[in-house]
Amino acid sequence: MSKALSWTLQSEQPRHADGIDRVHRRAFQGENAAGLVRRLRAEGGYDPSLSLVAEEEGGAGEVLGHVLFSPIAIVRGDAPAPALALGPLGVLPARQSQGIGSALVRAGLEACRKAGYGIVLVLGDPGYYSRFGFLPASGARIEPPRPEWAGAFQVLALLPGALDVGRGVARYPEAFDDV
Ligand SMILES: CC(C)(COP(=O)(O)OP(=O)(O)OC[C@H]1O[C@@H](n2cnc3c(N)ncnc32)[C@H](O)[C@@H]1OP(=O)(O)O)[C@@H](O)C(=O)NCCC(=O)NCCS
Repeated sequence: MSKALSWTLQSEQPRHADGIDRVHRRAFQGENAAGLVRRLRAEGGYDPSLSLVAEEEGGAGEVLGHVLFSPIAIVRGDAPAPALALGPLGVLPARQSQGIGSALVRAGLEACRKAGYGIVLVLGDPGYYSRFGFLPASGARIEPPRPEWAGAFQVLALLPGALDVGRGVARYPEAFDDV
Protein backbone atom coordinates (compact mmCIF):
# COMPACT_ATOMS: atom_id res chain seq x y z
CA MET A 1 0.00 0.00 0.00
CA SER A 2 1.40 3.42 -0.89
CA LYS A 3 1.81 5.92 1.92
CA ALA A 4 -0.32 9.08 1.60
CA LEU A 5 1.88 12.13 1.10
CA SER A 6 1.50 14.88 3.65
CA TRP A 7 0.78 18.48 2.79
CA THR A 8 0.63 21.89 4.42
CA LEU A 9 -1.65 24.89 3.95
CA GLN A 10 -0.31 28.36 3.38
CA SER A 11 -1.09 31.66 1.73
CA GLU A 12 -0.21 32.06 -1.93
CA GLN A 13 3.39 33.09 -2.63
CA PRO A 14 4.71 34.22 -6.04
CA ARG A 15 6.38 30.80 -6.51
CA HIS A 16 2.97 29.08 -6.40
CA ALA A 17 1.51 30.80 -9.50
CA ASP A 18 2.32 28.03 -12.02
CA GLY A 19 1.16 25.31 -9.63
CA ILE A 20 -2.15 27.11 -8.99
CA ASP A 21 -2.65 27.40 -12.74
CA ARG A 22 -2.03 23.68 -13.18
CA VAL A 23 -4.38 22.69 -10.35
CA HIS A 24 -7.31 24.57 -11.88
CA ARG A 25 -6.63 23.47 -15.46
CA ARG A 26 -6.65 19.85 -14.33
CA ALA A 27 -9.45 20.06 -11.75
CA PHE A 28 -11.83 21.90 -14.10
CA GLN A 29 -10.52 20.28 -17.30
CA GLY A 30 -10.23 23.62 -19.06
CA GLU A 31 -8.83 27.11 -18.91
CA ASN A 32 -11.68 29.13 -17.34
CA ALA A 33 -10.89 28.83 -13.65
CA ALA A 34 -7.13 29.14 -14.18
CA GLY A 35 -7.74 32.17 -16.38
CA LEU A 36 -9.95 33.78 -13.75
CA VAL A 37 -7.23 33.51 -11.10
CA ARG A 38 -4.58 34.87 -13.49
CA ARG A 39 -6.75 37.80 -14.46
CA LEU A 40 -7.73 38.68 -10.88
CA ARG A 41 -4.09 38.45 -9.81
CA ALA A 42 -2.94 40.69 -12.68
CA GLU A 43 -5.65 43.23 -11.87
CA GLY A 44 -4.88 43.25 -8.13
CA GLY A 45 -8.32 41.71 -7.63
CA TYR A 46 -7.52 39.80 -4.45
CA ASP A 47 -5.45 39.75 -1.31
CA PRO A 48 -2.84 36.92 -1.51
CA SER A 49 -3.44 36.21 2.18
CA LEU A 50 -6.98 35.09 1.19
CA SER A 51 -5.61 32.80 -1.52
CA LEU A 52 -4.60 29.48 0.06
CA VAL A 53 -2.61 26.61 -1.37
CA ALA A 54 -2.15 23.03 -0.19
CA GLU A 55 1.48 22.21 -0.89
CA GLU A 56 3.04 18.79 -0.84
CA GLU A 57 5.43 18.52 2.09
CA GLY A 58 8.95 17.66 1.01
CA GLY A 59 9.82 16.64 -2.53
CA ALA A 60 9.15 19.25 -5.17
CA GLY A 61 6.58 21.10 -3.08
CA GLU A 62 3.88 20.52 -5.68
CA VAL A 63 0.70 22.59 -5.34
CA LEU A 64 -2.08 20.02 -4.71
CA GLY A 65 -5.01 22.36 -4.24
CA HIS A 66 -6.02 26.01 -4.16
CA VAL A 67 -8.89 28.18 -2.99
CA LEU A 68 -9.39 31.86 -3.62
CA PHE A 69 -11.57 34.40 -1.80
CA SER A 70 -11.90 37.69 -3.66
CA PRO A 71 -13.74 40.91 -2.78
CA ILE A 72 -17.19 41.56 -4.21
CA ALA A 73 -20.02 43.88 -3.15
CA ILE A 74 -23.62 43.36 -2.16
CA VAL A 75 -25.51 46.33 -3.53
CA ARG A 76 -28.36 47.65 -1.42
CA GLY A 77 -29.70 50.99 -2.59
CA ASP A 78 -26.64 53.23 -2.85
CA ALA A 79 -24.68 51.53 -0.05
CA PRO A 80 -22.68 48.48 -1.22
CA ALA A 81 -21.71 46.08 1.55
CA PRO A 82 -18.34 44.28 1.32
CA ALA A 83 -18.33 40.51 0.92
CA LEU A 84 -16.08 37.79 -0.46
CA ALA A 85 -16.61 35.35 -3.31
CA LEU A 86 -15.25 31.84 -2.72
CA GLY A 87 -13.83 30.39 -5.92
CA PRO A 88 -12.33 28.83 -7.69
CA LEU A 89 -11.65 25.84 -5.44
CA GLY A 90 -9.73 23.01 -7.04
CA VAL A 91 -7.73 19.94 -6.07
CA LEU A 92 -5.56 17.85 -8.42
CA PRO A 93 -7.70 14.88 -9.56
CA ALA A 94 -5.24 12.33 -8.17
CA ARG A 95 -5.43 13.96 -4.75
CA GLN A 96 -9.19 14.43 -4.43
CA SER A 97 -11.23 12.86 -1.60
CA GLN A 98 -8.28 13.10 0.80
CA GLY A 99 -9.61 16.09 2.76
CA ILE A 100 -7.59 18.75 0.94
CA GLY A 101 -10.58 20.68 -0.42
CA SER A 102 -12.32 20.78 2.97
CA ALA A 103 -9.13 21.84 4.75
CA LEU A 104 -8.60 24.66 2.25
CA VAL A 105 -12.18 25.92 2.66
CA ARG A 106 -12.14 25.74 6.46
CA ALA A 107 -8.76 27.48 6.79
CA GLY A 108 -9.78 30.03 4.18
CA LEU A 109 -13.03 30.87 5.95
CA GLU A 110 -11.13 31.38 9.20
CA ALA A 111 -8.68 33.73 7.43
CA CYS A 112 -11.64 35.68 5.99
CA ARG A 113 -13.24 36.00 9.40
CA LYS A 114 -9.97 37.20 10.94
CA ALA A 115 -9.66 39.74 8.12
CA GLY A 116 -12.99 41.17 9.27
CA TYR A 117 -15.29 39.94 6.50
CA GLY A 118 -18.80 38.95 7.54
CA ILE A 119 -20.24 37.43 4.37
CA VAL A 120 -18.94 34.82 1.89
CA LEU A 121 -20.84 33.87 -1.27
CA VAL A 122 -20.22 30.87 -3.47
CA LEU A 123 -21.54 29.49 -6.73
CA GLY A 124 -21.22 25.73 -6.38
CA ASP A 125 -22.79 22.41 -5.60
CA PRO A 126 -24.85 22.68 -2.37
CA GLY A 127 -24.10 18.98 -1.82
CA TYR A 128 -20.49 19.98 -1.18
CA TYR A 129 -20.72 23.46 0.35
CA SER A 130 -23.51 22.74 2.86
CA ARG A 131 -20.95 20.88 5.02
CA PHE A 132 -19.28 24.22 5.75
CA GLY A 133 -22.58 25.87 6.71
CA PHE A 134 -23.42 27.53 3.38
CA LEU A 135 -27.15 28.05 2.83
CA PRO A 136 -29.14 29.20 -0.21
CA ALA A 137 -28.47 32.92 -0.67
CA SER A 138 -32.14 33.43 -1.50
CA GLY A 139 -32.93 32.80 2.19
CA ALA A 140 -30.84 35.86 3.06
CA ARG A 141 -32.46 37.80 0.18
CA ILE A 142 -29.16 38.10 -1.70
CA GLU A 143 -29.64 37.81 -5.45
CA PRO A 144 -26.93 36.52 -7.79
CA PRO A 145 -25.57 38.75 -10.55
CA ARG A 146 -27.05 36.38 -13.14
CA PRO A 147 -30.47 34.73 -12.68
CA GLU A 148 -29.15 31.38 -13.94
CA TRP A 149 -26.88 31.13 -10.88
CA ALA A 150 -29.88 31.06 -8.52
CA GLY A 151 -30.02 27.32 -7.69
CA ALA A 152 -26.32 27.09 -6.81
CA PHE A 153 -25.79 30.51 -5.20
CA GLN A 154 -25.06 30.15 -1.47
CA VAL A 155 -24.07 32.32 1.44
CA LEU A 156 -22.30 31.93 4.77
CA ALA A 157 -22.28 34.50 7.59
CA LEU A 158 -18.90 34.67 9.34
CA LEU A 159 -19.95 37.23 11.92
CA PRO A 160 -23.17 37.36 13.97
CA GLY A 161 -25.81 39.53 12.35
CA ALA A 162 -23.88 39.91 9.09
CA LEU A 163 -26.91 38.91 7.05
CA ASP A 164 -29.48 41.00 8.91
CA VAL A 165 -29.27 43.87 6.49
CA GLY A 166 -32.05 43.33 3.99
CA ARG A 167 -32.30 42.51 0.33
CA GLY A 168 -29.31 43.01 -2.00
CA VAL A 169 -27.76 42.04 -5.32
CA ALA A 170 -24.25 40.61 -5.50
CA ARG A 171 -21.94 42.50 -7.83
CA TYR A 172 -18.85 40.67 -9.13
CA PRO A 173 -15.79 42.13 -10.88
CA GLU A 174 -15.76 41.90 -14.69
CA ALA A 175 -13.17 39.10 -14.53
CA PHE A 176 -16.01 36.74 -13.57
CA ASP A 177 -17.95 37.49 -16.76
CA ASP A 178 -16.08 34.80 -18.73
CA VAL A 179 -16.57 32.02 -16.18
C1 LIG B 1 -14.75 19.83 -5.23
C2 LIG B 1 -13.29 19.56 -4.83
C3 LIG B 1 -12.55 20.87 -4.67
C4 LIG B 1 -13.30 18.83 -3.48
O1 LIG B 1 -11.96 18.66 -3.07
P1 LIG B 1 -11.52 17.34 -2.29
O2 LIG B 1 -10.16 17.53 -1.78
O3 LIG B 1 -11.78 16.15 -3.14
O4 LIG B 1 -12.58 17.41 -1.10
P2 LIG B 1 -12.58 16.63 0.27
O5 LIG B 1 -11.61 15.50 0.25
O6 LIG B 1 -12.48 17.60 1.35
O7 LIG B 1 -14.05 16.06 0.28
C5 LIG B 1 -14.36 15.03 -0.59
C6 LIG B 1 -15.82 14.73 -0.45
O8 LIG B 1 -16.57 15.71 -1.16
C7 LIG B 1 -17.44 15.05 -2.06
N1 LIG B 1 -17.68 15.92 -3.20
C8 LIG B 1 -16.81 16.38 -4.11
N2 LIG B 1 -17.45 17.14 -5.02
C9 LIG B 1 -18.76 17.16 -4.65
C10 LIG B 1 -19.91 17.73 -5.18
N3 LIG B 1 -19.87 18.48 -6.27
N4 LIG B 1 -21.08 17.53 -4.53
C11 LIG B 1 -21.15 16.79 -3.42
N5 LIG B 1 -20.07 16.22 -2.86
C12 LIG B 1 -18.89 16.39 -3.49
C13 LIG B 1 -16.70 13.78 -2.44
O9 LIG B 1 -17.57 12.82 -2.92
C14 LIG B 1 -16.11 13.38 -1.08
O10 LIG B 1 -17.08 12.74 -0.32
P3 LIG B 1 -16.67 11.75 0.88
O11 LIG B 1 -15.93 12.57 1.88
O12 LIG B 1 -17.97 11.24 1.38
O13 LIG B 1 -15.79 10.73 0.24
C15 LIG B 1 -12.57 18.66 -5.86
O14 LIG B 1 -13.33 17.49 -6.04
C16 LIG B 1 -12.36 19.34 -7.21
O15 LIG B 1 -11.34 19.99 -7.43
N6 LIG B 1 -13.32 19.15 -8.13
C17 LIG B 1 -13.21 19.71 -9.47
C18 LIG B 1 -13.38 21.21 -9.45
C19 LIG B 1 -14.67 21.62 -8.77
O16 LIG B 1 -15.75 21.09 -9.05
N7 LIG B 1 -14.53 22.61 -7.85
C20 LIG B 1 -15.65 23.13 -7.08
C21 LIG B 1 -16.38 24.09 -7.90
S1 LIG B 1 -17.76 24.72 -7.06
